[in-house]
Amino acid sequence: MQFKLITYPNKILRNRAKKVTALELAKIKTLAQDYLNFMIKEDGIGLAANQVGILERFLGAVTDAGPQIFINPTILTHGLKKVVFEEGCLSFPQVYGLVKRPAWIILRYTDINGKTKIKRFNKLTARVIQHETDHLNGKLFIDKIFQYTKGEKLIEAWQTKAKDDEL
Ligand code: CO
Repeated sequence: MQFKLITYPNKILRNRAKKVTALELAKIKTLAQDYLNFMIKEDGIGLAANQVGILERFLGAVTDAGPQIFINPTILTHGLKKVVFEEGCLSFPQVYGLVKRPAWIILRYTDINGKTKIKRFNKLTARVIQHETDHLNGKLFIDKIFQYTKGEKLIEAWQTKAKDDEL
């Protein structure tokens, strides 16, 4: 299966993805390997389904056990302590900024075999899953960046171009 990245300011990125039903699980299973390969080919450590135009609640993330698919992810709880880290996003090429997020999360999700799991994730994996879960809710990392490290001007340029294209 072929995928195409959707980049900002495409409005699809602001849509909330729908919950995956049991029926749709089989479909996700068939595309899972291509999806993860695409994420890696694009140099991503995480990819939310709406970033390739699929408005369903699943994401790919690189974990200690390798790249994995997380279906219907829900963050049940998270650490109180927040940590600052520089984030990028495949939908915002050349944009980077500092984002504060909880250091760890407890996630409930369905795995690619349809099993529901509850698991703790720390450090980079916790961050990636939080970033991608935000995507599934139509939230973007630019909403949370408190200091840009690269590419802040690009965002305005893209917004201006999108408005010009609409006219
Ligand atoms: Co992103």
